Amino acid sequence: MEFAILSKQGLYFLLKWSHFIFGIAWIGMLWYFNFVQGPFFAETDANTKTAATQKLVPRALWYFRWGAAFTLLSGLLLIGLNFHLSGATAGEWATGSWLAKIYPGIIMGIVMAANVWFVIWPRQKKVIAAANGEKVENLPVLARRAFLASRTNTMFSIALLFFMGAGGSKLPGAFNGANVGAWYGVIALIIGLLEINALVATNGITTKPIEKPVGVIHMGLVLAIVLYVILVAML
Ligand code: HEM
Repeated sequence: MEFAILSKQGLYFLLKWSHFIFGIAWIGMLWYFNFVQGPFFAETDANTKTAATQKLVPRALWYFRWGAAFTLLSGLLLIGLNFHLSGATAGEWATGSWLAKIYPGIIMGIVMAANVWFVIWPRQKKVIAAANGEKVENLPVLARRAFLASRTNTMFSIALLFFMGAGGSKLPGAFNGANVGAWYGVIALIIGLLEINALVATNGITTKPIEKPVGVIHMGLVLAIVLYVILVAML
């Protein structure tokens, strides 16, 4: 009997298993906030909403933010271990097909984790404080920014899973070549623009498509398809 799991490859696999668990905790909560809690809050009475913000929201946010932190940590460790196990030089690895395919997923994941810790959580803390009777300035503005970051993360999460799986479950096609640097740049630009929209826009044509849950799902699918077509066109 040989436990091949007790090897470096096995460690990679176990790390990936932990990554799924943390990722599910995080994205499960994200989808709960966007698809269940938000619509419920929109139609419930003020007292129920206050009670839920005092007692239910903090619990859900605990799983949400720590899920995000540990998904990011395990993901970054997977990247390091993937390089180590590949046996390739840094240059070969950085321009290889695996990184080219998973790259949009990694960038979206890092931006999403930053949104959780630096945009959503600080504002949600104030929303909870207000529900507990503290006086908070500019509450609607803070809540709106957290909402848009959360919606943007939901859109990203759909496209992210396409590219996470593209790396791990091997999306068919060999995607490398001379344009890999340009591909990294184009992806960073598109994701950067969507993130800027989350951070500075308030209302208008750029926020309308992600305003409603069904719109976010559509935009997530569109984003995955657009990025995939760019991948095929460039590499
Ligand atoms: C936060 C930043 C993230 C980073 C840096 C990251 C990084 C990675 C890496 C390096 C892998 C290994 C792929 C392979 O072995 O080829 C992976 C796999 C995976 N990640 Fe992430 N990830 C992140 C976020 C997420 C999130 C939010 C989810 C959503 C649940 C997720 C779901 C997955 C899945 C399902 C796989 C397995 C893919 C497969 O083997 O087919 N990741 N991730």
